[in-house]
Amino acid sequence: MSENREHFSSRIGFILAAAGSAVGIGNMVGFPVAATKNGGGAFLVIYALFVVFLCIPIMLAEMGLGRRTQSDPQGAYISIAGASSKWRFAGWLAVITPFMIGVFYMVVTVWILGYLVHALTGGLDVIADPEYFGKFINGNSVFVYLIAVAALVYAILVMGVRNGIELAARIMMPALFVMLLIMVVFVLTLDNAFAGVKFYLVPDFSAINGTVISGALSQAFFSLSLGMGILITYGSYLRKHNDLIGSAKLVAIADSLVAFTAGLMILPAIFALEPNTNPGDLSDSSVAMIFTFLPKIFMELQTSIGYFGASAVASLFFLLVFFAAITSLVSIIEVPTATLVRKYNMSRKKALGTLALTMGTLTLIATASFGMVDMFTDFVGYGGKSKSFFDVIEDVFYQTVLPFNGLLICLFVVWHWKQDKFNASLGEGNSRFAGSFLQKYMNFSLRTFIPVILAVVFINTVLDIYFGMPLF
Ligand code: PHE
Repeated sequence: MSENREHFSSRIGFILAAAGSAVGIGNMVGFPVAATKNGGGAFLVIYALFVVFLCIPIMLAEMGLGRRTQSDPQGAYISIAGASSKWRFAGWLAVITPFMIGVFYMVVTVWILGYLVHALTGGLDVIADPEYFGKFINGNSVFVYLIAVAALVYAILVMGVRNGIELAARIMMPALFVMLLIMVVFVLTLDNAFAGVKFYLVPDFSAINGTVISGALSQAFFSLSLGMGILITYGSYLRKHNDLIGSAKLVAIADSLVAFTAGLMILPAIFALEPNTNPGDLSDSSVAMIFTFLPKIFMELQTSIGYFGASAVASLFFLLVFFAAITSLVSIIEVPTATLVRKYNMSRKKALGTLALTMGTLTLIATASFGMVDMFTDFVGYGGKSKSFFDVIEDVFYQTVLPFNGLLICLFVVWHWKQDKFNASLGEGNSRFAGSFLQKYMNFSLRTFIPVILAVVFINTVLDIYFGMPLF
């Protein structure tokens, strides 16, 4: 199988593609706001500890499983456990999760494109009106943007691993870094910018509690694209002689660095232009932040740099987020694509066509669940709240199933694949891994506290979301 399988052209190609998946909407807005509200520098320290001590081992488990089996998640689990093993359900779950989250992510990416087009075509004043967002998501133009995003993702994925996924990452990721740096340099030169930097970085350990800690873990997990089968799939496009350990570390560093740097763009911008903002007032929701708060902030720039300048800054920001979102969306949809291609012997074209129909239908339903169609808007009720179809996908897959998938992969590696085989496999391409501290640490942590922490987070999320009574 491995002979015909397409591979990334090099380790750098893999790193860029995996970083492209990891760097997404969560980095640009979710992380900076979470840090500012939850203890600044203290949050950053906790986040970094989670990335290093919890996420990197899981990341290596996912990438290692993919590289060893040269298969998508569904095939990966059964290739080690056997087709009749119960583990096949874990494989299916790791395919269904990105399938559903792709729907969710698609909807948000479509909105970003819409706002990008507005900013580029001189409509900054329109999107700066906080009321506009509600109208926009229920208007007909979203369908046009939906077709545009779907076409772009299709065009990238149909070209395959090297000429599609890798090429898109090779173009978009460096562009993203450059745009981010331009934005940071510009924002830091605004008056009062350093008030924002202060809120972002000065540690406040008194803000740390159970909710903040579990929030930091979820953010790190989500940001590194774990629990989604993506790193299994991308790992399967890596050759055995490529160093996996070094690659995983670089992906984690790149992702964290972008998230950190985005904070140096968002917070100074907010505090320079709205000096009276209180960190507590910032919305927890990235969606509210991107689509209602930030456009208003960009509009305020016109007093110093004119409408044209303000529109240019807003356009750059939305382009940056759009690039981040597209490379993530591509990685999400690659998982079910790879499964259809292998399991049902489909061409990539046919697999993508099948996904366009199925995911497309669900995306239309999600798009219509913000008020267009009552049945989808008030889809179900639980935890004492009425939930839309979009909310249900977010609750079930984003919040609940992600840590559960992480737990399953730990258990699988330790109890089924067995740690010595796993270690031997990871060591291919990196002669220093055997006997290293990292190896010892992974041996210990993956069979002890990592699964325990993930299980606790999972149970807490279930109790919180569906029963309204969190443990902490
Ligand atoms: N890691 C991406 C982000 O930070 C989101 C993402 C999650 C992408 C899961 C792919 C899969 O926004």
